Amino acid sequence: MTLSLAGQTVAITGAARGIGLAIARAFLDAGADLLALDLDAATLTELQKEASGRVTTRAVNVADHAALRDAVADHPIDHLVCAAAIGSGKTGFPFWSLEPSDWSRVLDVTLMGVVNTVHACVPALLSGETTRKSVLILSSVAGQIGSQTDPPYSASKAAVINFAQLAAKDFAPYGIRVNALSPGMVKTELNRSVYAASKEATTMSYEEWAEEKIRRVSPMGRWQEPAEFGAMAVFLASDACRNLTGQTLNVDGGQVMHS
Ligand SMILES: NC(=O)c1ccc[n+]([C@@H]2O[C@H](COP(=O)([O-])OP(=O)(O)OC[C@H]3O[C@@H](n4cnc5c(N)ncnc54)[C@H](O)[C@@H]3O)[C@@H](O)[C@H]2O)c1
Repeated sequence: MTLSLAGQTVAITGAARGIGLAIARAFLDAGADLLALDLDAATLTELQKEASGRVTTRAVNVADHAALRDAVADHPIDHLVCAAAIGSGKTGFPFWSLEPSDWSRVLDVTLMGVVNTVHACVPALLSGETTRKSVLILSSVAGQIGSQTDPPYSASKAAVINFAQLAAKDFAPYGIRVNALSPGMVKTELNRSVYAASKEATTMSYEEWAEEKIRRVSPMGRWQEPAEFGAMAVFLASDACRNLTGQTLNVDGGQVMHS
């Protein structure tokens, strides 16, 4: 069994910060080259400096399929990780406190951004020897529990699990695997935006809110670290998982236990 990905190229959306950045660094540690994609071009440049010559960066909006196609054109891709996503930035509980128009922007990025990305990468994924290739889509516990916090985000994350399953079936004849990785709670900008939109933001600090929330929802009672998703993403791309496809792996301290 080897977790070395030397000589392989990994395309990652949302690579500029948070979980996507941690995944990018883990793939670099495993010896892979990167095609790092994000809206945030300036931060991508920082990643490029960390491993000169092994990171290609492209500033791109995953909601824009044509731009994605241009960004990945003629670039080899052995593994693809879709981490870019957004929430509504509003409290959705109850769901009718959001307008249907609040849903469009979230679905455009968090659901269609994944479909656009995988679709744009199909030519690269299907070219050459395909049997060691893989796709990993970041979902969320929210997509499995009907989370009331941000309904368009929750529904998008459920949809990408379903998309991972159907894409796993479509790619299986080529030996290409597709899985979903589902974080519980990680202290990133995205998580801070959930706090900022909550009614508790007026009475509690972020750290107080975070401490109370993690104890309430997670059996393990601890926040996940971005690096834990880097380790899992490398493992899922490796030969150790060559028969693993169409699955959703929860790295969430036991928050979701049903399948
Ligand atoms: N943080 C958590 O607690 C948590 C929990 C469950 C799932 N997730 C999932 O993990 C993934 C990473 O989340 P994070 O917490 O690191 O978020 P983050 O907000 O810290 O980072 C998201 C990255 O995606 C990029 N991005 C956003 N919109 C984009 C677009 N339209 N085009 C290209 N890039 C875009 C941002 O610039 C940023 O670099 C997401 O899919 C998220 O839904 C996070």
